[in-house]
Amino acid sequence: MQYRKMGKWGVKLSVVGLGSYLTIGFKLDLEASRATVRAARDAGINFFDTANAYNIGEGEKMLGQCLGEFPRSDVFVLTKVWAPMGKGPNDKGLSKKHIFEQCHASLKRLGMDYVDLYMCHRPDPDTPLEETVRAMEDLARMGKILYWGVSEWPAEMMVKANAVAREIGARGIGVNEPRYSLLYRHPETSVFPATIQEGIGNVIFSGLAHGMLTGKYRPGEAVPAQTRMAGDDTNMVLKAMYWNEENKKKVQEVVKLAEEMGTSCATLSLAWCLRHPAVTSTIIGATKVEQVQENAKAAELKIPDDVAKKLEELFPLPKSGAV
Ligand SMILES: NC(=O)c1ccc[n+]([C@@H]2O[C@H](COP(=O)([O-])OP(=O)(O)OC[C@H]3O[C@@H](n4cnc5c(N)ncnc54)[C@H](OP(=O)(O)O)[C@@H]3O)[C@@H](O)[C@H]2O)c1
Repeated sequence: MQYRKMGKWGVKLSVVGLGSYLTIGFKLDLEASRATVRAARDAGINFFDTANAYNIGEGEKMLGQCLGEFPRSDVFVLTKVWAPMGKGPNDKGLSKKHIFEQCHASLKRLGMDYVDLYMCHRPDPDTPLEETVRAMEDLARMGKILYWGVSEWPAEMMVKANAVAREIGARGIGVNEPRYSLLYRHPETSVFPATIQEGIGNVIFSGLAHGMLTGKYRPGEAVPAQTRMAGDDTNMVLKAMYWNEENKKKVQEVVKLAEEMGTSCATLSLAWCLRHPAVTSTIIGATKVEQVQENAKAAELKIPDDVAKKLEELFPLPKSGAV
């Protein structure tokens, strides 16, 4: 395993992290979840990602149980706040009230005294940035969180939040969590340059575009059983963002390139994400131990420049669109 500094900050994360969306505490029971977490630790993974909203707290509970068998100092745990956790007007968003209450609820579910990084899952236009920045600073001073971060915030909002933090003597953003893959290269345009300038790390999610970039969804063939695409409770994003014959065909070209290198399409696709200097870690999702092992190999795979060029020609930088 390789470890990288989280932007300008001192802490080092494994370049492959394990997430828990739709897997730990949802598709996977305790035994299967434990197996993936143990496989992750065996591969040298020290970074684990979850959120309060993953199966409304069940993801955190099960991840906490699985991590309980390891020394606390060996793992870096990230959880998030923002998504609705109830029906009340203050049961969502980034107000100080909701952040404070959910942080304590998350710690209880995880069975931990502190989380390593607490993240704003999305922006909240109803709350002034200063309120959110102060809430994070206060939690850090209380010893409940060590660092804080944001997910899918536009570049200019991160820069503004850091300026607010400097103004009020609070700590700035530690890490950003954007969607990033060969099939979603938008962060390269403005998010990555801004984070490099600000010293913010990036832990990227859906590096395999929900499994599309493994090559297992083949053009003209039926959806393999028991995959994310096969489940109506798991396939919404995949269907909406990536599911078309052109993508399936292009991914088969990645399969060929990977075979020529003696690796797999999944390993190659994740290793490509790690080539960008703004990226600290790629957070994988896994339903099987073998997936953890295959994906963790991305940490060691060096992609020759000519192969990277071919990949980037296959999946060019989008001209416009989402951040
Ligand atoms: N900040 C955010 O808003 C946000 C959003 C989404 C995710 N995340 C985090 O990022 C993590 C990863 O996201 P993601 O699950 O979308 O990542 P992903 O790596 O794009 O997709 C993971 C899924 O692909 C399949 N897969 C993974 N490795 C494979 C392999 N080697 N061979 C075949 N199939 C494989 C598995 O599903 P099947 O076996 O079921 O097909 C697995 O659950 C999440 O767990 C979560 O912690 C954060």
